[in-house]
Amino acid sequence: MTLPKVIVLATGKGGAGKSALSRSLAAHWLATKQSPAIVDADPQMSIARLHDPDGAMGKVTVVTDPEAESVSTSIAELAERHTPVIVDTAGFRNQTTIMAAIAADLVLIPLKPSAEDVAEAIAMYDLVGELNQTPERKGRPIVALMVMTMTTPNAVIVRHIRNELEKGGYPIVDAEISQRVIYPELSIRGLAPSIVDPDSAASRDIARLATEITKKVSTHGRVKAA
Ligand SMILES: Nc1ncnc2c1ncn2[C@@H]1O[C@H](COP(=O)(O)OP(=O)(O)OP(=O)(O)O)[C@@H](O)[C@H]1O
Ligand SMILES: [Mg+2]
Repeated sequence: MTLPKVIVLATGKGGAGKSALSRSLAAHWLATKQSPAIVDADPQMSIARLHDPDGAMGKVTVVTDPEAESVSTSIAELAERHTPVIVDTAGFRNQTTIMAAIAADLVLIPLKPSAEDVAEAIAMYDLVGELNQTPERKGRPIVALMVMTMTTPNAVIVRHIRNELEKGGYPIVDAEISQRVIYPELSIRGLAPSIVDPDSAASRDIARLATEITKKVSTHGRVKAA
């Protein structure tokens, strides 16, 4: 099973968990002996600002590029030496996110269990659908997948949102990223669960997500793409 080469974390909703997931997926693939890199395409630089080259995630190359004109080049350059290249984007819609999405194998759309997050996740999914009609991606569609973040066990709202999205035909992964204090705690040092505590429940959530998205992207030629 081959890893997706370029994964873009995107939604126009701020605070949905893009940066935490970017860092956590990079940590997972670093811990499993891959060579992940991150493009921090958010002008707020939440990944790059906290990245410690001498820390436990120092081996993850982090490049900052919030510019729509150059982000595709930054992604392509890193992709020559790294798999996967994970792109963290801004918490609002902008041209840089669109350019990054055009360069993606997978656009991963995080959403918290809230109405605003759902609306922005659908908007991002629809945008990927539009990008797939452009000459650049015709016949080579970008896969889009939604993932629920900051969930609490057995919450009715989580089940409700999942049901509604599935009923609407939106691709939402089975893996859920539970609400856990380990994410904000580790993010202060630019770290993530799979590197610091590989046996934690959070690391298991992330591993489940990593396996599922890898499977979905590597088989998508045979299933329905966005
Ligand atoms: N699964 C989680 N459990 C608990 N806290 C989380 C989780 N995921 C993210 N957080 C925390 O929630 C806040 C928002 O998450 P994050 O910064 O990853 O979102 P974002 O989508 O990147 O936001 P922005 O749009 O501002 O870039 C952060 O403080 C982060 O540490
Ligand atoms: Mg962020």
